[in-house]
Amino acid sequence: MSNTWEIILSSPTPQAWIDRALKSLDLLLIDHAHCEKKAATSAISLIHKYPHFNLAKLLSPLAREELLHFEQVLKLIEKQGYQYKNLKSGKYAQTLYESSSKTEPNRLKDTLIICSLIEARSCERFHALIPHLPNSLKSFYSKLYKAEARHCDIYLDLYSKIFNDDWSIRLKELSAVESTFINQKDKLFRFHSGY
Ligand SMILES: [Fe+2]
Ligand SMILES: [Fe+2]
Repeated sequence: MSNTWEIILSSPTPQAWIDRALKSLDLLLIDHAHCEKKAATSAISLIHKYPHFNLAKLLSPLAREELLHFEQVLKLIEKQGYQYKNLKSGKYAQTLYESSSKTEPNRLKDTLIICSLIEARSCERFHALIPHLPNSLKSFYSKLYKAEARHCDIYLDLYSKIFNDDWSIRLKELSAVESTFINQKDKLFRFHSGY
């Protein structure tokens, strides 16, 4: 059976992004650290914003896991001799959230789908990068790949538990937005950028 990330993404990462990533491992790792930190922040902000849906049960452990990944990537950055620093954010998440509904409950529905798509793209990119990575990064990314695949399922499971309706039509629309973004040329190279 296929993984959820393979089912919900509308297109694979362009080869040009993979080539660029392999030439910019420092930037890839530094931006990856920021992605882990942002993933934890998003989960915590959902718990805070929707206390009545008891999101903490699944999203608090998820946020802890993302912070652990953040710490692990920081260690790896240090080990590789790179310097962690703040980076200008890419437009990936912003583009997705701009397509999100502004009114509830559709806003939460869209947010859960968007979080799942972001996790799915992370998985797909880990999967695409792993065969080309130096050994020092290969095993770490293989471990992260499994965790992010689980997170991709958690967000869609939460949607089904809370709303008990079909996410597939809306997912197709948001997945098309996601796919258009990653298939565009992008001045800024980031973990979730275009090429
Ligand atoms: Fe993570
Ligand atoms: Fe994740």
